[in-house]
Amino acid sequence: MAKRDKIKAILAKEETNYSTTVMGWVRTFRSNRFISLNDGSTINNLQLVIDYENMDEALLKRVNTGAAIKAEGEIIESQGKGQSVEMVVKTLTVLGDADPEKYPLQPKKHSLEFLRENAHLRFRTNTFSAIFRIRHQIAFAIHQFFHDRGFVYVHTPIITGSDAEGAGEMFQVTAMPMDNLPKTEDGNINYKEDFFGKATNLTVSGQLEAELGALALSEVYTFGPTFRAENSNTSRHLAEFWMIEPEVAFNDLHDNMDLAEDMLKYVIKHCTEHCGDDLAFLEQRLINEEKSKPQNERSPMALLEKLNFCIENDFERVSYTDAINILRNSKPNKKKKFQFLIEDWGADLQSEHERYLVEKHFKKPVILFDYPKDIKSFYMRLNDDEKTVGAMDVLFPGIGEIIGGSQREERLDVLEKRMEDMDIPKEEMDWFLDTRRFGTCPHSGYGLGFERLVLFITGMSNIRDVIPFPRYPGSAEF
Ligand code: 4AD
Ligand code: MG
Repeated sequence: MAKRDKIKAILAKEETNYSTTVMGWVRTFRSNRFISLNDGSTINNLQLVIDYENMDEALLKRVNTGAAIKAEGEIIESQGKGQSVEMVVKTLTVLGDADPEKYPLQPKKHSLEFLRENAHLRFRTNTFSAIFRIRHQIAFAIHQFFHDRGFVYVHTPIITGSDAEGAGEMFQVTAMPMDNLPKTEDGNINYKEDFFGKATNLTVSGQLEAELGALALSEVYTFGPTFRAENSNTSRHLAEFWMIEPEVAFNDLHDNMDLAEDMLKYVIKHCTEHCGDDLAFLEQRLINEEKSKPQNERSPMALLEKLNFCIENDFERVSYTDAINILRNSKPNKKKKFQFLIEDWGADLQSEHERYLVEKHFKKPVILFDYPKDIKSFYMRLNDDEKTVGAMDVLFPGIGEIIGGSQREERLDVLEKRMEDMDIPKEEMDWFLDTRRFGTCPHSGYGLGFERLVLFITGMSNIRDVIPFPRYPGSAEF
């Protein structure tokens, strides 16, 4: 194919009076004269000016919304309003037609629900191209953040043979014929005959393997897909989502909080610096969407203001015990407005409580730490009070929990006792316990839910709109 210039570069350099070639998809074609062309490099379109009297009429009939075209011509200073440069087209080629009778994305407003059903085409809308460009920038910034600090990116397995994490329900992986499962003598499924010679699942978290890496490489992180077969049909849950899990030797819980806060601020700042056009578009989208909502349900800040607020202010660090006291005495608790009322210390926090703390009480991101041991995982470090563990959750406005992590239990005897108490099969976890047998050390880590961060930064409200092809109960389309 002939060389082409990206529209982003043409618009950025604002030079005029040179010839070039562009390729992209037609957004609109009006008055038989002006084509709005988008090639995905930016949310902005290039205006192509057609001298229709000297063009083949049959060719112009094929310039429909959604069609792929190639145009060669001269970039000139724009004669009209709304853009600084435009292209006067000399030759035009239709690379791929889009029949206007059949193409679903005609130029009008489409609901997010409609676009979700047409997820194979929604990349072509302003909203979704902006979201997925930002999603890319977030992923890139995360790698940059850890790389600059000397972390090693470790690839942890997607198929796992242990069910130890207990983070959620697992999807089974098998190569056995479902209609004719091999059985043992006592009638159970004989996994020895399966592909791996044992039962296997899709991973719910790469943490345990990341710990193995950290206890040699010092600072590692994972960035990969994770899977949970929970029946959570919410705007915050996916069955397949991406998680970033740093794990750091010699870090305690407070170092862990510092790392999480620094990382979030770095990534958000990167987006405000590199995604200006897309964020401005999404900010306006949100304002329009919220116009139909009552005042008290609208976001208190516009999107960019909210992102800057996050970058500029310290996150509030609050112990679970202090948070419970705040919640117990809160208005919605006293007026019985919470669905789950907070009575005693030890209660698990629901998303309504997390959001109250963040959105109503502190009005900023909050890091809750030192949770009761009974509501947290076996690997979290037991505190001296023997009632709490060194856990931390980062809570964000509009999102709730965005990060979950902890200092890890590095003491073999304490860990083994916790595993026994919580019925974690020690025999299957010998490899994990080896790190505590040989050269154990204090270490900490956390898991960031990638799509929850994308939700926050884009200002979208449904997690199914920030991953290209969402998987959730009852749906694995495309
Ligand atoms: O809190 P979680 O379950 O923590 C772990 O899996 C730890 N092993 C992490 C670690 O310490 N290395 O999950 C971590 C984050 C949550 O805070 C949330 O942001 C996200 O993953 N998450 C989900 N995101 C989308 N859909 C789901 N079903 C999610 N479940 C968790
Ligand atoms: Mg969690």
